[in-house]
Amino acid sequence: MTTHRIAVLPGDGIGQEVTEQAVRVLRAVGKISGASFEFEQALVGGAAIDATGHPLPPATLELCKKAHAILFGAVGGPKWENVPHEVRAERGLLAIRKELDLYANLRPATCFSMLVDASPLKRSVVEGTDIMVIRELTGGLYYGEPRGVERFADGGARAVNTMVYTTREIERVARMGFEVARKRRKHLTSVDKNNVLVVSQLWREVVTKVAKDYPDVTLDHILVDNCSMALVHKPTQFDTIVTENTFGDILSDEAAILAGSMGMLPSASLGGTVGLYEPVHGTAPDIAGQGVANPIAAILSAAMLLRYSLNMVREADRIEAAVQRVLEQGHRTRDIAGPKDKALGTKEMGDLIVQHVERG
Ligand code: IPM
Ligand code: MG
Repeated sequence: MTTHRIAVLPGDGIGQEVTEQAVRVLRAVGKISGASFEFEQALVGGAAIDATGHPLPPATLELCKKAHAILFGAVGGPKWENVPHEVRAERGLLAIRKELDLYANLRPATCFSMLVDASPLKRSVVEGTDIMVIRELTGGLYYGEPRGVERFADGGARAVNTMVYTTREIERVARMGFEVARKRRKHLTSVDKNNVLVVSQLWREVVTKVAKDYPDVTLDHILVDNCSMALVHKPTQFDTIVTENTFGDILSDEAAILAGSMGMLPSASLGGTVGLYEPVHGTAPDIAGQGVANPIAAILSAAMLLRYSLNMVREADRIEAAVQRVLEQGHRTRDIAGPKDKALGTKEMGDLIVQHVERG
């Protein structure tokens, strides 16, 4: 029997609390399915800066490269706001994405029917929303050269970031978009700023060319400003979205609101040989250490890990069904609780989901 080696990188803030619950759920999956998991934990982000001075210590990167999949928490926080830019906690995450060539970031935004009222948007707008945002993750402004700040003698300065994409980078993420759309409702929307940016003109050209290989998928193009409006106006018009790094960062946060809470949203970063799975939410310094964070995004990330890295589809379904059932029974953490609900803590919510996974 193969042992699935999972690198566990809880990171900072609530990352530590929610990742623990996701690991418990995977252990429960091991118990019922007979699959064998080996979890090895490593430092990343602020926790790694404190211990080693670097947000991604070489030992952590080595562990990730040897693992079958990576379960990631979240990085960053006020404590590390003032460290030099190149060793900020966030750099740890950006370096892993690049080192492992994780060029496609899948962020589902599903509005669970029992949580419709947790969204600040009207029921008539969000009901039925089921979007998969695919964000390009290793190119564009985040990594483009040249970049940097030039300081002038008169006290002024000039700062540069570069949005750059090659045909190959666009093509591979576009293919991922079409493949994913094919398994969903066969509708892909490519988001760009084609009316202003030459990078977007190339983006649109390449995506249109790739579409020829996917005649069964309907492709449309939308400008990023318009997309941002449409997401809160008529989100049900979208199925699968594919876009470049920065647009995807912004739009996926916006889409998160459709699902009621950031605390509900998992993600998968794919492309290289090892996939990385992390909740979309950050470290939430305001509630860190209180045991009240919603572990569902982390737990659903573990389900994505089973689905995409280990091909354990039935077990992934089982976790998603367990989450669904716990929510149906009315259990809520603070972020999704209505005025009359009793809010559960992180561990209590984890306990319930583990129980349902074990019971099936
Ligand atoms: C995200 C985050 C990261 C990003 C930060 C923490 C570097 O916002 O995963 O969306 O900008 O990619
Ligand atoms: Mg973001």
